[in-house]
Amino acid sequence: MVLLIPEGYLIRKAKEEDIDGVIYINSVTLPEHYTTSFYTSILLSNPDTFLVAEHEGRIIGYHMGRIEYGLALRGFPKFVKKGHVISIAVLKEHRRKGVGTMLLKTALEEFTKKGCEVSFLEVRVSNEPAINLYKKMGYEIVDKITGYYSDGEDAFVMEKNLETNLI
Ligand code: ACO
Ligand code: ZN
Repeated sequence: MVLLIPEGYLIRKAKEEDIDGVIYINSVTLPEHYTTSFYTSILLSNPDTFLVAEHEGRIIGYHMGRIEYGLALRGFPKFVKKGHVISIAVLKEHRRKGVGTMLLKTALEEFTKKGCEVSFLEVRVSNEPAINLYKKMGYEIVDKITGYYSDGEDAFVMEKNLETNLI
């Protein structure tokens, strides 16, 4: 799968040799970091929703996702297949050009293809850019977890129904 987006950006599935680039982007964009083996294990177990965005041959953004099973947080409580957006980020100089949207849109298409009924994620309550992106993509705030992050900040849990996917 290769998807062309405007202004010379490209969204594609990640390869093992992209992990260093993903780790670099994560290190300069987010306070939540993971071990190299965590990235590798997600790439091996969920290769279709581990995506990178490229510009002029360089990785400038990523989406790391995982399929999980759990209770849907809205409506009648039932066990569902869920697409978990673990982490998404775009380098500062490439933001606000639609790259985050395209990464998420591509991941949601893959989650839907694989039979996920919902997609969910956690986000810092102060992270307005990300919350706006998720709302724009149809996610709703369904829960708040007090002190979720290591510095004590709360997280919103946001969920999107994929059965009525209008992306
Ligand atoms: N202020 C307000 N709204 C914003 C902002 C901003 N600075 N940036 C994006 N948005 C919203 C807008 O609604 C925007 O649509 P518009 O441009 O038409 O108004 C919409 O998001 C889509 O914007 P994109 O250009 O597609 O998103 P971008 O490529 O800039 O990436 C992202 C958004 C990934 C949140 C980026 O800001 C980023 O990397 N931030 C740092 C890392 C981060 O916070 N990641 C999310 C953590 S939570 C998690 O990973 C589950
Ligand atoms: Zn999460």
